[in-house]
Amino acid sequence: MHFQWYPGHMTKAKRMMQEDIKLIDLVIELVDARVPMSSRNPDIDELGKNKARLILLNKSDLAEETRNDEWMTYFQNKGYFVVKVNSKTGVGLKSINSVIAQACKEKMERDRKRGILNRPVRAMVVGIPNVGKSTFINALAGKSCTKTGNKPGVTKGKQWIRLNKNVELLDTPGILWPKFEDQTVGLRLAFIGSIRDEILQVEELAAELILFLCESYAGILSAKYEVDETADKFTILRQIAENRHCLLKGNEWDTEKAARLLMDDFRNGRLGRITLEFSDSY
Ligand code: G4P
Repeated sequence: MHFQWYPGHMTKAKRMMQEDIKLIDLVIELVDARVPMSSRNPDIDELGKNKARLILLNKSDLAEETRNDEWMTYFQNKGYFVVKVNSKTGVGLKSINSVIAQACKEKMERDRKRGILNRPVRAMVVGIPNVGKSTFINALAGKSCTKTGNKPGVTKGKQWIRLNKNVELLDTPGILWPKFEDQTVGLRLAFIGSIRDEILQVEELAAELILFLCESYAGILSAKYEVDETADKFTILRQIAENRHCLLKGNEWDTEKAARLLMDDFRNGRLGRITLEFSDSY
């Protein structure tokens, strides 16, 4: 399988982030809890050095809970502050302000010693496309927050959202480009729908997901689609087509439709909570 990426977009996004990052104290990095490594771009460690760091395991509702906890420990051991969240429902968001305060404790202490009082912590959200940055900002900021910064039409500048008296958030998130170090990373990003399906062969993709699920989550596919998990991946795909009556004209099985159905069920959590990469491999 071949994955495309767009260095042009990436260069621009990185340049913008380099500028924004100068203005902030804290980087809030969103990763997808189903693929916490593949959905990161390690460049952020260089870009965000000397900043307080908070990793959010977003979409934690779609990933296995014990795996979420393992990943939390993994990142905490590396010195990050970590919170599991579901930005769509708001679960986990309550604890964020106190974690931000902890993460920025040193900075606040430094400010206090220099006689700077009550300067809010400035934070920005970063992450790869589709990881949930906008959803998170909206959920955290809500409607009650006031926008600060420059007034429209007066001076062009950054818009900050005041979260509370101690924290301001840059209203536009930084976009990190995923890093395709190997095909596995690309494949996992394709599974979660971060790479547009039009550039991929959906049956191949579904077959790879079938392979992973049979190995790591035995029983899920047979329970959902009544397939024989000992068969090979393309046979299983055909069985899904049969059992879900995906038919083409002329009574041929429509495996492309079955593949889309499987990918859709997986991405929307209808196969249950599934984590695609495990911290003990890193
Ligand atoms: P981005 O700014 O990083 O590009 O991501 P965005 O907020 O647009 O979110 C991408 C998709 O992920 C959205 O779904 C959003 O609802 C969903 N999402 C964000 N956070 C969570 C989460 O914690 N859990 C779950 N389950 N989903 C989350 P969409 O399909 O584009 O839109 P919609 O179907 O929600 O309307």
